[in-house]
Amino acid sequence: PHDAAAFIKSQVRTIPDWPLPGVQFRDITPLLQRPKTLRVLIDLFIERYVEAKLDYVAGLDARGFIIAPIVAYELNLGFIPIRKIGKLPYKTVSESYALEYGTATVEIHEDACEPGNRVVIVDDLIATGGTMMAGKKLLERLGAVVVEGAAIVDLPDLGGSKLLRENGLPIYTVTDFP
Ligand code: PRP
Ligand code: HPA
Repeated sequence: PHDAAAFIKSQVRTIPDWPLPGVQFRDITPLLQRPKTLRVLIDLFIERYVEAKLDYVAGLDARGFIIAPIVAYELNLGFIPIRKIGKLPYKTVSESYALEYGTATVEIHEDACEPGNRVVIVDDLIATGGTMMAGKKLLERLGAVVVEGAAIVDLPDLGGSKLLRENGLPIYTVTDFP
């Protein structure tokens, strides 16, 4: 898994000054593009969760939606979408969180899972942790047990993974960019 993680890290593309000056954007699309990187990446998540007795894999809109359903399929589980506000058609529960400027809101269908279900939340990247924290709160409001938050990339200097762990959510990331 160490070799695999190093390989994955080597294939993340860094775009300087996007979308704003001073930001080093960590682009995961090269991991999706080639069959080898996609398989090594997904296999890391499968190894991690194959024995976890999960009921669902949840994904965060939008880039979590690329990875989470592949993981769910391979584990023979269902997938739960946690969406940006205004996209889910049935009855929803919502959580707002702070962005650098303003707020964002995410939603889940109120019948997305049952109390006591064990769920992992998957996204591409953890920055401030706000999105993952909102996802945890939504699932917990439905009575789910959020077993872990998982992402390909952690940006530890932004403090999100630390904050999430301090709030009782174990975090797994394949690699990080300090
Ligand atoms: C990005 C990323 C994570 C989130 C991480 O998504 O894909 O979901 O931000 O940031 P945080 O840890 O500070 O919450 P974004 O909101 O840009 O939406 P997108 O997936 O639709 O591009
Ligand atoms: N890459 C991708 N998504 C992000 C980043 C990044 O560097 N920062 C916040 N969201």
